[in-house]
Amino acid sequence: MLVSMKSILDDANENYYGVMSMNSINIEMVRGGIEAASEEHSPIIIQMGPGQIGKHAHLAEIVPVVKELAAKAPVPVALNLDHGSKLDDEIAAIQAGFTNVMIDASSLPYEENIQKTKTIVSLAHPMGVSVEAELGHVGQAADGDGITDDLYTNVEQAKDFVARTGCDALAVAIGTAHGNYPKGFVPKLDFDRLHELKEALQMPLVLHGGSGSGEGNLKKAVAGGINKINVCTDAFAAAKAGMLELLEENPDADFLALQMKAEASVKAFVKDYIHIIGSNDRYVFTDFESGSQE
Ligand code: 13P
Repeated sequence: MLVSMKSILDDANENYYGVMSMNSINIEMVRGGIEAASEEHSPIIIQMGPGQIGKHAHLAEIVPVVKELAAKAPVPVALNLDHGSKLDDEIAAIQAGFTNVMIDASSLPYEENIQKTKTIVSLAHPMGVSVEAELGHVGQAADGDGITDDLYTNVEQAKDFVARTGCDALAVAIGTAHGNYPKGFVPKLDFDRLHELKEALQMPLVLHGGSGSGEGNLKKAVAGGINKINVCTDAFAAAKAGMLELLEENPDADFLALQMKAEASVKAFVKDYIHIIGSNDRYVFTDFESGSQE
């Protein structure tokens, strides 16, 4: 069922587990992700950013796909606008039926981030849509971001930010970065800071740049209070690797077979991820029709 992201993350926050939020740009990714979550009795968040929406996952086309597959799923599914920054994009997502919007004003001065986030909260909440904001800044791995703590989230500022904006989840900068790290590089995360942030905020925290973080880091991040892990690069890579593998086996493989292989690869990838971050077996329904839970 399609639910607000807040309801998924509040449960994860109370019970100290992580939920995967996968950037998904077509039906194969959405279905692979939701099927994996259903089989693992796990919640899942499907998300896409404005760039992905503009290039390929057009709102009017992808949202009905997500709604249809979520409605049939026996687990909670949320639909999130990833890295929204423009008012028009936020409004379009809310109107299209997203159940959460992220407002990323993290590269703006602090007070501007607060004002922008407050505006989006005031638009989204009355529509039953929750809001993720970002404080500190998670940059790009390709630019060497995340290596120094200049842009890490400040604990005292985070308390003030959450109190003044009323956001439902906070993306924190603790050492990850978006995209592929240089070969062999594993980011060093600031777990002390994460612990302090969780103690101070007691709310769902989000880790951006989940790709390439390494299983050990992911498990420690979840144990330290991360409840949502954004994954894009590794999910795209899983889909591509599946197709390449099939082409190597059979260069004559047709387009249909390649799409099916991509979906199966995404599904296997999400299942593994779910086990790493501990969201499996959280929603075991005895009677799907009545929605009663074991
Ligand atoms: P990665 O591409 O590094 O997984 O980052 C995804 C992300 O954080 C999307 O918001």
